[in-house]
Amino acid sequence: MQGPSLEENKAVLPFLRWAGSKRAVLPILSRFVPKVFGKYVEPFAGSACLFFYLSPSKAVLADLNAELIDTYRAIKQEPGSVSRVLCKLPFGREAYYQIRNQQFEKGDQIRRAARFIYLNRFCFNGLYRTNLAGRFNVPFGAPRNATVPSRNHLMQCSAVLANARLIAGDFERVVSENVSKGDFVYLDPPFFQTEGRVFRQYNSKPFMRHDLERLAALLKQIDDVGARFLLSYAKNNEARVFFRDWHSRTITLQRNIAGFAGARGKAQEIVVSNFPLAT
Ligand SMILES: C[S@@+](CC[C@H](N)C(=O)[O-])C[C@H]1O[C@@H](n2cnc3c(N)ncnc32)[C@H](O)[C@@H]1O
Repeated sequence: MQGPSLEENKAVLPFLRWAGSKRAVLPILSRFVPKVFGKYVEPFAGSACLFFYLSPSKAVLADLNAELIDTYRAIKQEPGSVSRVLCKLPFGREAYYQIRNQQFEKGDQIRRAARFIYLNRFCFNGLYRTNLAGRFNVPFGAPRNATVPSRNHLMQCSAVLANARLIAGDFERVVSENVSKGDFVYLDPPFFQTEGRVFRQYNSKPFMRHDLERLAALLKQIDDVGARFLLSYAKNNEARVFFRDWHSRTITLQRNIAGFAGARGKAQEIVVSNFPLAT
């Protein structure tokens, strides 16, 4: 299925790189989104591609990664100040490791956000990984021509974030406490599968079978409330078992997580929903 390209659409693009980002499939994914809904809820935000693409007028954006959510808060509230700090940071491998070693107080929201964005743009594959002490430890790996997002871009993202409530927390609580009748929930969790290796370790807590069971129960809860959901997932045996009661469609995408067996090249994922999917 072909949709308009992102550039044709003039959509707001995410300002972060993210493992498992849906950026490449946005034109396809967005065609499955209902035309009208109450509030937009995205509990596994990551770089929040679909959120920025749709620019909803009322939203809840959440992730377990508190540093990520703090960064969204800073961009929502003070994009110009974050941009000023970000633009002054030096480029290069040596500078990267110096900045990675820096630590700022929790209250120093602007410098913490600038550091987060900088490390995200220049680290290996846009990964987010921490050591046991919770410190970011991804090595330098800037793509050719890597840059930091422009002030204008951060301003655009800030305008979209202005309509969103931002929550750092587990998906089950976020959905249970924030979804009501008429809402639209987009879920893009890490994948759990028993066979082979998939990338699922976004933070100190990997996504396990128990999380998949909680997720499957939550889909039923969203449906019971009278909201609609769209879920992205790997096309694997677990998906066939856990999501068999719902509508589904296969989509093909380009995977880009290096360092994991068979993780580059074309992959098949599914979208699962509690409403008929557009053809
Ligand atoms: C596949 S990524 C989402 C990618 C996103 N759709 C994008 O386009 O960038 C999955 C996200 O789920 C988050 N996550 C992992 N476990 C979680 C949990 N228990 N509750 C909420 N978020 C979680 C990770 O931090 C990660 O950002």
